[in-house]
Amino acid sequence: MGNNNSSKTGGEHQAPRYDFDQVIDRKGTYSDKWDLYRGREVLPMWVADMDFRSPPEVIQALHQRVDHGIFGYTSPPDELVDIFIERMKSQYNWDIEADWLVWLPGLVCGLNISVRSVTRPGESVITQTPIYPPFLSSISLAGCHRVDAPLKATEDQQWQMDLEGIDITDNTQLFMLCNPQNPTGKVFSREELIAIDEYCQKHNLFVCTDEVHGELLLDPDAEHIPYATISDYARENSITLLAPSKTFNIAGFGCSVAVIPNKKLRNRFKQVRKSIVPSVNALAYTAALAAYRDSHEWHSQLLEYLRENHRLMLETINSLPGLSQIPAQATYLGWINVSGLGLQNPKSVFEAAGIGLNSGADFGDSDYLRLNFGCPRSTLQQGLERIRLLVDSLQD
Ligand SMILES: Cc1ncc(COP(=O)(O)O)c(C=O)c1O
Repeated sequence: MGNNNSSKTGGEHQAPRYDFDQVIDRKGTYSDKWDLYRGREVLPMWVADMDFRSPPEVIQALHQRVDHGIFGYTSPPDELVDIFIERMKSQYNWDIEADWLVWLPGLVCGLNISVRSVTRPGESVITQTPIYPPFLSSISLAGCHRVDAPLKATEDQQWQMDLEGIDITDNTQLFMLCNPQNPTGKVFSREELIAIDEYCQKHNLFVCTDEVHGELLLDPDAEHIPYATISDYARENSITLLAPSKTFNIAGFGCSVAVIPNKKLRNRFKQVRKSIVPSVNALAYTAALAAYRDSHEWHSQLLEYLRENHRLMLETINSLPGLSQIPAQATYLGWINVSGLGLQNPKSVFEAAGIGLNSGADFGDSDYLRLNFGCPRSTLQQGLERIRLLVDSLQD
């Protein structure tokens, strides 16, 4: 398998070291990330999957499941449900019940189902911007109006919300939260979550909270707190979307879960989903179970590796004229302010220089580009070097 170097010394068992430095060729695997630039000398650092192999424990469980050879319709394994419930308890002291879980083949469908479960066309939905683009499209596709709650960069390198500044309308039904936030990497503090909760209580809003990046904390002082644990109101009026997909690099399988404590809300959600969204496939459940059950050590070494990548990226970006970046508290995504370069279309200029990034305009702020640093260090160094050369060339 190549990236699991177990070793023993002096008879004592040592944790395996996983090799995140290994560069693996993804060309020819129909990878969205790599195929976008097929035949071009562009390093893809855009869509949010990582260029690391998934944990060997996940790969092994998949081998066993594939060897069984029958891939019929599959229910969520009891063991996965139990492990998920234990995980929420041990990580967040969050007591959840098996009945509250609705398994889904992805989170984006969860965002769309959530909006349609609690709104009618013509009503309004609040979301913080900039934001992962499917938040924006889930609102427009449901025929709803978008009310933006912009996050502002402060002098002391933080992202700040301004609840009082939201232009809320009488027909606003839903607050869509992304915590940790994609693309800024912000992790909302308890005080901020309490403020959001009070705001939602005051305006009688449901909350859809996407917490898929909650296990990718970079900042040692940051704590992921599920919004649903903040108050009784939060529990009864929220849909929390979670998945092992980002943390364990298994997004291509699609195994996610909506946690919906309120039975009425849960039934509405299931009703909207019915006959439109397919069930989760057999291999996806297998991968999710092995990720949550067997991959703790891989996860903790991944975080160490990502923290160093993040440090390297921040140092480089903030040393270049015209670029700046506020530290991400979580995720493997860097949100780079490129406005100082004065470019009309930054994404295409970066592509021409051999770096494929996400356009900030898609997230609601064209001053930015998003860089995915979930890759071997040598790949990141190559991308950062190309950025440095581009910035140098623009100074001439
Ligand atoms: C916040 C957030 N939600 C959802 C997704 C995608 O979820 P899925 O691929 O399960 O639909 C992403 C992927 O980048 C994301 O960052």
